[in-house]
Amino acid sequence: MIDFKNEISKAIEKVINIDSKTLNTYIEVPKDFENGDYAFPCFKLAKELKKSPQIIAGEIQEKIELDKKNIEKIEVVGGYINFYINKETIAKEVIDEISSNENYGHSNVGKNKNIVIDYSSPNIAKPFHIGHLKTTVIGGALYNIYKYLGYNVIGVNHLGDYGTQFGKLIEGYKLFGNEYDLTENPIDKLADIYKRINELCSEDEKVLENCREDFKLLEHGDEYCTKLWKKFNDLSIGEFQKIYDLLGSKFDFWLGESFYADKTDEVIKILENTGKLQESEGAKIVDLSSSGIDTPCIIYKSNESTIYATRDLAAILYRARTYDFDKCIYVTSYEQNLHFRQIFEVAKLLGLDEKYTNGLEHVAYGMVRLPSGKMSTRQGNFVKIEDLLNDTIKEAKKIIEDKNPNLEDKENVAKIVGIGAVIFNNLATSRIKDEIFDIDAMLNFQGETGPYLQYTYVRTKSVIEKVSSIPKIEDINIEVLTDKYSQNIIKLIYKFEDILNQVIDKNEPSILSRYLIDLAKAYSLFYNENKIIVDDENIKNARVFLTYAVGKVLKIGCNLLGINMPNKM
Ligand code: ARG
Repeated sequence: MIDFKNEISKAIEKVINIDSKTLNTYIEVPKDFENGDYAFPCFKLAKELKKSPQIIAGEIQEKIELDKKNIEKIEVVGGYINFYINKETIAKEVIDEISSNENYGHSNVGKNKNIVIDYSSPNIAKPFHIGHLKTTVIGGALYNIYKYLGYNVIGVNHLGDYGTQFGKLIEGYKLFGNEYDLTENPIDKLADIYKRINELCSEDEKVLENCREDFKLLEHGDEYCTKLWKKFNDLSIGEFQKIYDLLGSKFDFWLGESFYADKTDEVIKILENTGKLQESEGAKIVDLSSSGIDTPCIIYKSNESTIYATRDLAAILYRARTYDFDKCIYVTSYEQNLHFRQIFEVAKLLGLDEKYTNGLEHVAYGMVRLPSGKMSTRQGNFVKIEDLLNDTIKEAKKIIEDKNPNLEDKENVAKIVGIGAVIFNNLATSRIKDEIFDIDAMLNFQGETGPYLQYTYVRTKSVIEKVSSIPKIEDINIEVLTDKYSQNIIKLIYKFEDILNQVIDKNEPSILSRYLIDLAKAYSLFYNENKIIVDDENIKNARVFLTYAVGKVLKIGCNLLGINMPNKM
């Protein structure tokens, strides 16, 4: 499609002799199309050109040569020049592209670039909590969007499957395992065993000693301990998988921390050779104060062979060598900010090419709270995510029963709507903001929710069903699409690829979520103001096609976020 912004900066370049690439970065896109589609502020040039912004704006307005087919009007307001895109041209561009491109918005900007996304990563024998839900959803959305832009994406589930706590769990299982039936809710029971053995350890040094012994045995491949460890893994992963099945989450690799246990020696050796490894209270640490990080990074403790941070450093080495990554991003809550600042700093000492250390990025997100009351206190102090998802599906089912009792395949639609609601809720606002998991609010069909997007999509589908086929592009009269409501939609659709680029630029899927809400709202407005199914074929064809275009972009966008679309609801 025509890059209108670029056309403008090239034309300004000819007038004032400043590189169009630089000018391009000055051009603003006003939120509201009423005051033009692009605005060029002349304030930045005032100093350089030694003239007032108003005078510069006036001069540019006078001398600029623009193709009327692209930019139909310009206006000077204060120190700004406002540019208006030719309505018919942009409508034609969008219509042509939508009709010819199955994968609208897809691109190859990421060709030959490798992106590792480390996400979800719950811990064995511990509950998959509501924060894990968030990393699973954010990581999944980023995965899809990078891929759509042509990147080679490697999704890794970095399970927490290693550490001294497994010595405790093994010892606990030896002592109380026979009291539990692990075929149902195994994680709750393992967590209980862990709690009991911990209590015992604080009372009895001898028990603690046994736990340490068990962990050593596990590290050295002892058959019995390994068998138990595997059992804990299988049981936990079985539970996690139920959640992944509901959400539709997939990973290219399940490589937990244990995978790196035998790869930390190399990290330690490299760090030793740099001379930066210091002794401190029986531990080896790297002091990071010169990089502005007050807390040193512990590399190993005398009584533990490896720790979380060291295994993460080994993972960086491994990922650099195995995946040759351009970016390696970690999606976890902001509680791990310090951890990642530390390991990214220490990673600079590992002798890796700068490409890798520059490519490390922590994608942090805020806390998720349950509304106080029933949900947060059920089953002790945590809620099972699987229950939460199933509750949302049940609520969705009730709403559907109520709104559309004759709908076919209600079970399946309820699942799509319920899960869509949860996924959207996790992506609706800027990731760093804290969020509330409120089932009623996220299922509100009229709110800024997943179901609202799905509902709007279904509306587009039923319009098309009424005319039985999508109008041919040669039967569309572009003039029909120059009214305000159609233009709102067209300009949003035009922006889609740019939105996707913004998402990966900031690793911020909410940019896409917001956009989709804007698009759905623009369609609702269009739908209310413009009659679509009318006798005039010209008008009907154009409006039906625009409806189809909205549906297509809503579906592609939602799918990228990980949300499925029902055909009816
Ligand atoms: N298992 C950790 C947790 O549940 C998250 C791991 C994130 N990834 C990493 N490479 N450290 O908090």
